[in-house]
Amino acid sequence: MSGAGRHTQLLHAGAPTLRDGAGPVNVPVVRTSTVRFATQQDLESRQHRRAAGERVASYGRHGLDTHQALEDALSTLEGGHRAFLAPSGLSAITLVLLALLSPGDHALVSDSVYAPVRRVDKTLLQRLGITVEYFSPAHDDLAALIRPETKLVYLESPSSLLFEVLDLPELAAVARERGVPVAVDNTWSGGWFQQPLRLGANISIQAATKYIAGHSDVMQGAVVVDSPALAERIAATHEALGLAIGADDAYLSLRGLRTLPLRLAQHQRNATEVAQWLQRHPQVGRVFYPALPDDPGHALWQRDFSGASGLVSFAFRDAGASAASAFVDALRWFAIGASWGGYESLALVAPPERLREHRTWQGNAPVVRLHVGLEDPQDLLADLDQAFHRTLT
Ligand SMILES: Cc1ncc(COP(=O)(O)O)c(C=O)c1O
Repeated sequence: MSGAGRHTQLLHAGAPTLRDGAGPVNVPVVRTSTVRFATQQDLESRQHRRAAGERVASYGRHGLDTHQALEDALSTLEGGHRAFLAPSGLSAITLVLLALLSPGDHALVSDSVYAPVRRVDKTLLQRLGITVEYFSPAHDDLAALIRPETKLVYLESPSSLLFEVLDLPELAAVARERGVPVAVDNTWSGGWFQQPLRLGANISIQAATKYIAGHSDVMQGAVVVDSPALAERIAATHEALGLAIGADDAYLSLRGLRTLPLRLAQHQRNATEVAQWLQRHPQVGRVFYPALPDDPGHALWQRDFSGASGLVSFAFRDAGASAASAFVDALRWFAIGASWGGYESLALVAPPERLREHRTWQGNAPVVRLHVGLEDPQDLLADLDQAFHRTLT
């Protein structure tokens, strides 16, 4: 497929081969726990091939046709060597941390990271004798923070509350020069608007729960690596943790992937309209959306991304802490909900204690994060307008 455009590749990656000259467009949903073998020798040969690193299944946990088709499509999407599936975005993150870090190791993590990463650190990594240091890529010099025992740089760009865009090529070059692998949470871009492996990172992680599945009906994570050496390390930990997802969920993500670029383009159009409308609103102090020319991350976003997702945050201008919850309560089309990436609009009050963890955030105004869905934008604007009236007049 090399040489074909990205849309073409994404639509055809993982397609089933024809048998006797015919077959379905989509890969079947192959549900199984046990894999049957004709002979003991067939079983042993499969086990040996797997032990040698070949991606074949000798048991249902390894995933059969549906899983492999999704893995192929994800590798194509991210431009990687191999993909691994996990039961949630968070378990995909934990998989990477456990695969790359051992007792005594040190990891550098950007401070605007998805907050539950800090919980993995507190509840698991600290107990294993692994030290995590949070740094602000905007304020700190990564080169000066890397120690001999630093074994991972973990980033999220843009971050998922205020969308801080990191200079990924620069950070990855610094880490690579010192032999430290770089993992990036790429969920915001869906893997379509940004390809971290092409920008110098070694591992791209996504909560497939969000834009890949795209319909708020699947929990899933994906890890895509750039090399056979990293694939071997991730594979060993993946196997040890017994991570597995159901074939139905793998199918739903594969189906979601086929329309990912179209959905993202519409999310971007609607979100841009909402972000520009919010910028003009007298009760809004600041809008966070990297596609806006005055967003601090705009220049990096323009350089490294081909589009922007449906997430827009805003800070109130002159409002007390209770304004944010009154505002989201007043919304009609935006449901209150913690996830995003589905077709529908959502709103969430950004917890102030989370914002304070980001060194680039200096304010104390209440912040609301919107996920702008695929509804008619005029309905969304009218909804926001009535919510401002009901909250602040
Ligand atoms: C940026 C980011 N990464 C990872 C996750 C975790 O994904 P999941 O909810 O599938 O565990 C989320 C979930 O909100 C997220 O926003």
